[in-house]
Amino acid sequence: MYPSRFRYEAPRSIAEAISLLHEGGDDAKVLAGGQSLVPLMKLRFASPELIVDINNLPGLDYHREDPDGTIRIGALCRHADLERSALLRAKQPVMAAAAPLIADPIVRNRGTLVGSLCHADPQGDWASVVTALGGFVVARGPGGRRTIPIADFVTGPFQNALALDEIAVEAVIPAPKGALAGGYLKLERRVGDFATVGVAVATETSGGKVTRAGIALTGVGGSTINATAAAQALVGQPLTADGIAQAADLAAGAARPRTDHRGSAEYKRHMVRTFVVRILSRGDGSQAAAGGGSEAGTGGGRVATVARKGQPDMTIVYEDRGDDATSDVPVNRIRFTINGKKMVAEVEPRLLLSHLIRRGVGLTGTHMGCDTTNCGACTVLVDGRPVKSCTMLAVQVDGRAVETVEGLAGASELHPLQEGFKTEHGLQCGFCTPGMMMAAKALLAENPEPTEDEVRWALSGNLCRCTGYQNIVKSVLWAADKLKAQGN
Ligand SMILES: Cc1cc2nc3c(=O)[nH]c(=O)nc-3n(C[C@H](O)[C@H](O)[C@H](O)COP(=O)(O)OP(=O)(O)OC[C@H]3O[C@@H](n4cnc5c(N)ncnc54)[C@H](O)[C@@H]3O)c2cc1C
Ligand code: FES
Ligand code: FES
Repeated sequence: MYPSRFRYEAPRSIAEAISLLHEGGDDAKVLAGGQSLVPLMKLRFASPELIVDINNLPGLDYHREDPDGTIRIGALCRHADLERSALLRAKQPVMAAAAPLIADPIVRNRGTLVGSLCHADPQGDWASVVTALGGFVVARGPGGRRTIPIADFVTGPFQNALALDEIAVEAVIPAPKGALAGGYLKLERRVGDFATVGVAVATETSGGKVTRAGIALTGVGGSTINATAAAQALVGQPLTADGIAQAADLAAGAARPRTDHRGSAEYKRHMVRTFVVRILSRGDGSQAAAGGGSEAGTGGGRVATVARKGQPDMTIVYEDRGDDATSDVPVNRIRFTINGKKMVAEVEPRLLLSHLIRRGVGLTGTHMGCDTTNCGACTVLVDGRPVKSCTMLAVQVDGRAVETVEGLAGASELHPLQEGFKTEHGLQCGFCTPGMMMAAKALLAENPEPTEDEVRWALSGNLCRCTGYQNIVKSVLWAADKLKAQGN
């Protein structure tokens, strides 16, 4: 699947990005992590004519605490950065609980919290968390900077309060005025799924009484639900079993779930009630963080450009749909390395990284399974981080290092991961295996001695249709031992 044709710009300053958005108006879209926008473009639910990729804007990949305890999350701070954040674990139990529950580990490497707020998916987890915490979004546009309370920012399903030429530059979580507790619980059918029900609860306590509370619900209405009455019922008194039960009933009453294949409306309301009670009964959000909180054809192609610059070079083949003249197709020149080799290519912006790798470079070990960002078969490393190459534009690897399964083996010997999969029978058909090995390579680089649970967690964005995962996990652990023995 390809997005429809668009012009691609990757500005180097916010001012330039704003000016591009201003020029593009209704036809322009910001591209952040691309984990929602690229799938929508591939399905042609969104067909912007101009993509303003903000990934090269400097200084937006932070999350930090101000001296007064305010937490700021920049527009390019990835879900994965928040998942690994010592700051959140120490100071922000509600966010720390939610971060590992967003999508799967590979999507989390690209997706951003701010992008999630902008996307305003009723099943997006961050909007509930930021709502419960009483957060804000800071936007910048031609008129300057403005701060928008999250309750006003999300205006409906997939709608936000940004003007067409505004960029959300950061999310702000105010400093708590009392002892902060709470958590995020999510009912999902499997790891990486969107919420059937999600509940965020935050309380601030001082002098034994709740001084502020926030409760927000995911996936049980047309957009994020701010359960204000439920939260208000907690304020001004100590947390008691009766008070918690009352708040839980009010939260369940605020939910507007629909009966669907994920469960009946009644069941979902019941889960809202249950989650509110569970989070508040813990009285310690850190437990939520520790527990994770989850229940659960190329025919007819034409050679558009041959870029020759030193060795090796490459040819990019674009699909010719017969609907446009060659001269009208905008192409971008990119330079990147793949498995250590320098490359230069000219690519049409809508070409996906998976296509660049498979058809352009001819490395067909990267497999295409679902083409919908779900299976992880297409996983490669970009600058060392696993990404689903079917959900990244080829043009985005300009200046970056790409690693594919072909780069694993040495000249005469297999990589320990390849040996491990062979020795421990970690594959049957082998279709998922390249993606599994690339995700595992990144895991072992970050964590050379993973536990079995950590291997399972790292591979939870990679689906295998034939094995029971047992031998895949054994294979990765085998490789970890071998690498350790080799002193790597
Ligand atoms: C398989 C899969 C599973 C997922 N599961 C979950 C899940 O369980 N929970 C969950 O919450 N999300 C889930 N997601 C969505 C994921 O979290 C996305 O990363 C997120 O929704 C969007 O963030 P992004 O940075 O990728 O934004 P993009 O996809 O780049 O953009 C999304 C939208 O927001 C706009 N936008 C983005 N950033 C800005 C900005 N700074 N200023 C102005 N506009 C902006 C874009 O123009 C676009 O309209 C899943 C995605 C996938 C592919
Ligand atoms: S996730 Fe890319 S092909 Fe399935
Ligand atoms: S080995 Fe066949 S899909 Fe995993």
